[in-house]
Amino acid sequence: MTSEGVQPTGNPGRTGAGPAVNSYTEWDPLREVVVGSLLGAVFPTWQESMKHTMPPSAWPVFRERGGSPLPERHLKAAEAELDNLAEVLESEGVRVRRPDTARHHRPIRTPEWESDGGLYAAMPRDSLMVVGDAIVEAPMSWRCRLHESDAFRPLIKSYFRRGARWLPAPRPQLTDDLYQDVGDSGPWAVSEFEPVFDAADFLRFGRDLVVQRSHVTNAFGIDWLRSALGPDFSVHVVETDDPHAMHIDATITPLAPGKLLVNPERYVHSELFDGWEILPAPSPALPADWPMYFCSPWVSMNVLSLDPGTVVVERQERPLIEALTAWGFRCVEVDFRHVYSFGGSFHCVTLDTVREGGPGRYLSVPGR
Ligand code: ALA
Repeated sequence: MTSEGVQPTGNPGRTGAGPAVNSYTEWDPLREVVVGSLLGAVFPTWQESMKHTMPPSAWPVFRERGGSPLPERHLKAAEAELDNLAEVLESEGVRVRRPDTARHHRPIRTPEWESDGGLYAAMPRDSLMVVGDAIVEAPMSWRCRLHESDAFRPLIKSYFRRGARWLPAPRPQLTDDLYQDVGDSGPWAVSEFEPVFDAADFLRFGRDLVVQRSHVTNAFGIDWLRSALGPDFSVHVVETDDPHAMHIDATITPLAPGKLLVNPERYVHSELFDGWEILPAPSPALPADWPMYFCSPWVSMNVLSLDPGTVVVERQERPLIEALTAWGFRCVEVDFRHVYSFGGSFHCVTLDTVREGGPGRYLSVPGR
């Protein structure tokens, strides 16, 4: 497990203050991060492909209330948790950036389909990915998310002007050809009609990336990313045991070189992690009646690494905090349950734009 040091971006537009964007792993010391916002968030507009990933209790809500605001009191509490996370990160020495306020309630119309509204700018991990000095904009497969990265465009443009590479994926058409019946046509709700993925189906391990196929990420999308990143990076598809797969970051969580937190219900061992210590995450502590519109309580393990010895963890996840502390980590405890309700935790709501370190190799890749 080596690190080859920070690579120069080679972009003459870069100012002398260090690279605008530099992040190769999920754990190197964090220097700058984007924290999402729930301001103006609305319920997603229903499409059938959602039923494979969204909790059944949310289906009627999305069918009836797509494009209308998320419940106000809960939303306010969640936004306060996001603001607090931003303050905690600043107090840990991390620069924090926030997205623009966007009007997510406005309908989306294309020549082929309409959506009653957008969604939110809460989860930059879903729509954006930093790989080294590049920012990738993902081609997301939910129609209501077609313009989701727009709220981050002022930031992206500013990073670009300061030397980052900007890699927007081909704009997906999201016509009916993309969606298929699970079972009859294959295991996933998206076909191979065009490249689609959510960035949160990928994890970064230096020059290697790991990805899961899911109901929002197809092989075409993985191939597009492979080609866009070029020969300096390898993208490895791993198997997970998750019939509802959408976003790998509540299934596998790398915390440091050689240390992997895994979901005991979903993790399938890959030889890529031979030689790594593997900790099965304790069961989530969330009460069964807590409202969860978008995801499972396993977002408990959706932690954010500040460096290879420090993680941000939800304050009430006591069994997880005890297990991580016993494993040698310092846990920064932050209240975040109201954010959970809207689809994610600390990893989902952030995009690490600057971490120290360079493109090492950490995985056990056969034949290498
Ligand atoms: N989709 C993942 C889950 O619900 C994050 O656990």
